[in-house]
Amino acid sequence: MRLMLIAGNWKMNLTAGEAEALAAALRAGLDRDADDLQDEVARTREVMVAPPFVAIPAVAQALAGSSIALGAQNMHFEEKGAFTGEISAPMLKVFGVRYVIIGHSERRHVFGESDELINKKVRAALRHGLHPILCVGETQAEHDSGRTLTVVLSQLQNGLDGVAGPGLVTLAYEPVWAIGTGRNATPEQAQTVHGSIREALKDRYGPAGDEVRILYGGSVTAENVDSLLSKPDIDGALVGGASLKADSFIRIVRGG
Ligand code: PGA
Repeated sequence: MRLMLIAGNWKMNLTAGEAEALAAALRAGLDRDADDLQDEVARTREVMVAPPFVAIPAVAQALAGSSIALGAQNMHFEEKGAFTGEISAPMLKVFGVRYVIIGHSERRHVFGESDELINKKVRAALRHGLHPILCVGETQAEHDSGRTLTVVLSQLQNGLDGVAGPGLVTLAYEPVWAIGTGRNATPEQAQTVHGSIREALKDRYGPAGDEVRILYGGSVTAENVDSLLSKPDIDGALVGGASLKADSFIRIVRGG
């Protein structure tokens, strides 16, 4: 059985102090019910937050010893060197970072990251034992012209080029038109894409493709999370805006 993952992507929000406070509030909120609810949540859902790089040390401290995992929003594919402004996998690992979001649509469309670059980052993350969350998703124009599956499956194949086994990999389907717009894909729309991603993963990796988690992202809220997660191939959520407030993220983790 695939363990659900609810991941918060804080993007370029929160100073280190604010991020630390949010992490502490999440920890307190999710630890408070050390009873059946908490057990149930812990058994069925893993939780991760991805703060901005400079807030990672403070958040790592705030979450030390808790069950909430730490993620990064990006990384460079080299270990070190003359790459001004970049952060490498070993630098992240020092702080206990476990996940790294790679190829988020903002990286692809605002910063021009190509499938080739994204693939290098995925492979570098795996080389260093980090769990990459590879993001794929079509733009509004691609959606409107019926190219969703073509685009998503090509991003998937290119992103995983040369990746022999999907063991540490998580996928995230995030339609660009749904990110930050308040307009989520319907559970049915998302399941159609997730189902196709699942088939592609099984074609490529055999039964191991069944073990890969496929998250949905794009305007996930406490109100719509349950219906999205009720679909067979939606194994969690990548949450932006609604992950910036402890109460809304905790409600999402608990399932609306
Ligand atoms: P959103 O962002 O939840 O604010 O739409 C999701 C994401 O970009 O990962």
